[in-house]
Amino acid sequence: MKATNVVWHNTKITKEDRQRLNNHKSCVLWFTGLSGAGKSTLATEVERELYKYGILAYVLDGDNIRHGLNKNLGFSPDDRKENIRRIGEVSKLFVDSGLFVISAFISPYREDRDMVRAMLPKSEYIEVYVKCSIDVCEQRDPKGLYKKARVGEIKDFTGISAPYEEPTVPELVIETDKQDIEDSVKKIITYIKNKGYIE
Ligand code: PPS
Repeated sequence: MKATNVVWHNTKITKEDRQRLNNHKSCVLWFTGLSGAGKSTLATEVERELYKYGILAYVLDGDNIRHGLNKNLGFSPDDRKENIRRIGEVSKLFVDSGLFVISAFISPYREDRDMVRAMLPKSEYIEVYVKCSIDVCEQRDPKGLYKKARVGEIKDFTGISAPYEEPTVPELVIETDKQDIEDSVKKIITYIKNKGYIE
């Protein structure tokens, strides 16, 4: 059921005021990629690096969010869409609050990622494709999920029994099977520095 008779309230302090106070811009770094590609590891390291620069950042991670806000969602295409829609909305609120958001979700469907892109001004959505071959992800298998998916213990597993649609025009591609974590973090920080998000 849709909410009716709801009216938007403007507050007196704007996103720009909060950005001035923080002394940096706010935006979403949207990490997408297969399970085991390294999204969470990279997100954690980028958050730590940004902290060193005095940037207020916050990681929204698939596994964590599915423990709370999205605990009622599974992995069907519709549930994944709702998962990504909610996180898109949460990311937008966090950006409005003046934070750097690092969202790490498989977000396998192009249409769902584009839905989030469309929620934000162009400069506030940076799609980062955390690219890694399925073979390497499966070898890493940090949580033993690929093994379970192969024997049918997990249904609709991305890359095995559910699709992953590669980004066509991501702002950044990080190949975690070709470069180490340090270089990957450096590449992301260099990008956001060059684009003027941080000094
Ligand atoms: S999605 O597709 O964006 O809605 O997924 P996300 O919210 O990022 O959650 C992915 C994590 O859930 C675990 N998991 C699965 N992943 C993919 N497919 C299936 N069926 C599945 N079941 C559980 C898994 O730990 C994912 O975490 P990562 O960090 O990607 O490995």
